[in-house]
Amino acid sequence: MENQQKNFGSKEANPLQSLDEWEDDVLERYPEPEIKSGDKSKEEFRNYETTVRDTVKEFYRLNHTYQTYDFVKEKKSNFLQFNKKEMPVWEAFDFLNQLVDDSDPDTDLDQFQHLLQTSEAIRRDGHPDWMVLTGLMHDMGKVLCLFGEPQWAVVGDTFPVGCAYSNKIVYPEFFENNPDYSNPNYNSQYGVYEKGCGLRNVHISWGHDEYVYQMMKDHLPEEGLYMLRYYSFYAWHREGEYDYLLDDHDREMLKWVKLFNPYDLYSKSPEPPDKNKLRPYYESLIKKYLPETLKF
Ligand SMILES: [Fe+2]
Ligand SMILES: [Fe+2]
Repeated sequence: MENQQKNFGSKEANPLQSLDEWEDDVLERYPEPEIKSGDKSKEEFRNYETTVRDTVKEFYRLNHTYQTYDFVKEKKSNFLQFNKKEMPVWEAFDFLNQLVDDSDPDTDLDQFQHLLQTSEAIRRDGHPDWMVLTGLMHDMGKVLCLFGEPQWAVVGDTFPVGCAYSNKIVYPEFFENNPDYSNPNYNSQYGVYEKGCGLRNVHISWGHDEYVYQMMKDHLPEEGLYMLRYYSFYAWHREGEYDYLLDDHDREMLKWVKLFNPYDLYSKSPEPPDKNKLRPYYESLIKKYLPETLKF
């Protein structure tokens, strides 16, 4: 583990050329149900090559190997202090956009463009303004990469730690490398949890979702918070796994997570949103719900 920490900046620790490769893989697994025929703009985002598939596989090998119960608790105790940086919300989008990677800059949207496409798609469909803001903020947690965190500790499908892994999680075979897999405290169905304890009492693998949830915790309605916290928990909201950990509140909130997820996955378009034109609307939306500055 110590050695791994030192290698976080290396290709070995960060196999993806771009964080988008994870999202493209999710899109392959969960394609949009009715893609309008002739919608070339969306088809373009479907070009998926074997080389990418290999890097994604390697990414999941690392993710499933190192996301242990102890790892999650350690990351929470570090990053949830929010003592690293503080800045106005609009500046935070520029900060997030420092996250540029090796992928082709001509075809890839920057992080803020993806956030705006997500929030604009939600707004177009007439959803409440807090959900628009949820869309705008949902990937802010990717700044974890700028603090030197490896890709496998920032993105990827999320899953409960401290109990048995569902075999519906992508590449379940890689969990055999995780020390928790053979630890009797963690490898039974309930593990450290109790039946029906509710997801709020369950530690989920660490990444940009939990981080942004904690960042927004006091500022968005419960439905929006569920969206932020669980939209990458595909084994739950797409595969229906882990029912035995849920309480009635989780079951009630599931529909909101399901409502949000497609806006993240299917709103991508090569047409970049007009940041300057949209700014006044979003400045006032931010003012309505969020404090002046965000703490990281
Ligand atoms: Fe995300
Ligand atoms: Fe996203």
